[in-house]
Amino acid sequence: MRIYVPLDAAAKALGADDVAAAIRAEADARGLDVEIVRNGTRGMVWLEPLVEIEDADGRRGYGPLTVDDVPALFDGTLETLGDVEKIPFFARQTRLTFARCGLIDPLNIDDYEAHGGLAGLRRAIQMTSENIVEEVKTSGLRGRGGAGFPTGIKWETVLHAKGAQKYIICNADEGDSGTFADRMIMEGDPFVLIEGMVIAGLGVGATKGYVYSRSEYPDANAVFAEAIGIALERGLIGPDVLGSDRRFDLELRIGAGAYVCGEETSLMNSLEGKRGVVRAKPPLPAYRGLFNRPTVVNNLLSLATIPAIFEKGAEHYADFGLGRSKGTMPIQIAGNVKYGGLFETAFGMPLGELVNEIAGGTASGRPVKAVQVGGPLGAYMPPEKFDTPFGYEEFDGQGGLIGHAGIVVFDDTVDMLQMARFAMEFCAIESCGKCTPCRIGAVRGVETIDRIAHGDPDAPALLADLCETMRGGSLCALGGFTPFPVMSALTHFPDDFAPAREAAE
Ligand code: NAI
Ligand code: SF4
Repeated sequence: MRIYVPLDAAAKALGADDVAAAIRAEADARGLDVEIVRNGTRGMVWLEPLVEIEDADGRRGYGPLTVDDVPALFDGTLETLGDVEKIPFFARQTRLTFARCGLIDPLNIDDYEAHGGLAGLRRAIQMTSENIVEEVKTSGLRGRGGAGFPTGIKWETVLHAKGAQKYIICNADEGDSGTFADRMIMEGDPFVLIEGMVIAGLGVGATKGYVYSRSEYPDANAVFAEAIGIALERGLIGPDVLGSDRRFDLELRIGAGAYVCGEETSLMNSLEGKRGVVRAKPPLPAYRGLFNRPTVVNNLLSLATIPAIFEKGAEHYADFGLGRSKGTMPIQIAGNVKYGGLFETAFGMPLGELVNEIAGGTASGRPVKAVQVGGPLGAYMPPEKFDTPFGYEEFDGQGGLIGHAGIVVFDDTVDMLQMARFAMEFCAIESCGKCTPCRIGAVRGVETIDRIAHGDPDAPALLADLCETMRGGSLCALGGFTPFPVMSALTHFPDDFAPAREAAE
């Protein structure tokens, strides 16, 4: 009998390690031959620790499981969730990037291969660099970090850029509020990222890759470091990738916890051992990136999607989605919701369906007041905008952004003035300090919102003016996008900004 107990950080926070130990002890006490596999998560966080038993009858789930449930699990008297892939939250998904997460043993390369892994790389290794880049262009894949720049065009630029050494950087500095997809891949299917990076290396002629992760992800970093060792041992990386004469070396680097190090130029400074300050663009990293060499900087999700594109074909991937938002997006649902977790679906699902149907509305049972999409720099969307389809252009058209596809739900007890203040405060704390609109503007922003709270009638116009300056004058997205949450709060929830003013009048 095989029992899967997630090693995912969220599952561990909910007691998965204790459950695994209790299962081991119970099996030993009963003299049963049980193999415990520490898998990634299936992405249904409200069911964690979600344990699955695999035997002659197939695979069935139990969760959330406690240590006290373990004897009943072995007695066969515990109520089962049945086939977890039939749970509506899971069954409604289209899993391409996350096809194996939670299904396989993350550190078993044979299990990875048995579930479709390495098929993409084996195909890519037979192709020319130009054909690899063309395949990515045909897939329509766009940057999953948030900016949505076409991945194939970025690769093409690096392919044609001149440089004795080229690099692939995976941006795994997942700092957005309500996001956890990068972590789940590193913990649940690390070889898919390694495979994607090797294909990127073959595509642009880079022989060295770095994964830039964060110190806040100790579990993910430990699993991924082990995966790199296994990949090297098994020839997935190293001097002769899968027995070919192609080289690709890979290193994991861990940042010290600055949000702005998720910005690509700041990330490269950090990788070079310098302070994580943003560099002006141009030059683009594609021409002069890490150590001044042509560099692909891709978000983890972009790179982890590459193997599926090469395994199933670019057209297959491009068939999913809406308009210029092709393929699927691993959407991360968090905040005040009944069912939080990872929901991968083709672009196009309306926001309201995600919030009210997939996430089941608020956990508190109160009405939804606002949803922040795209991290701390994303706009607050009111229920009136719930018909907005999930897509890059569609959200842009509504004054928002999808960012890294994190959505955080708030009920009607939230004070939007405080949320706007928090956005400015966050920017002030995380600013790298390079440019004035962000460094000074965010501090003045907090003060101006406090003036609104104290009823200063001139302050709202001043805040709008300040936001306009930050938006147009900041060097990077931190200062430039902070106006999104601030202005969306002010525009869509004027009542939260009014009472203090009225009280003062
Ligand atoms: P950007 O629009 O300047 O660039 C997007 C990407 O395309 C960059 O990698 C850039 O180097 C590349 N690029 C642009 N033109 C190119 C060309 N002609 N050839 C090759 N490459 C080219 O956006 P930026 O400043 O890198 O990122 C902003 C986005 O980051 C925002 O949309 C925001 O949603 C997102 N973001 C994501 C966070 C996360 O945690 N994932 C955190 C903060 C912001
Ligand atoms: Fe640094 Fe802020 Fe300017 Fe970005 S906008 S370069 S974080 S000061």
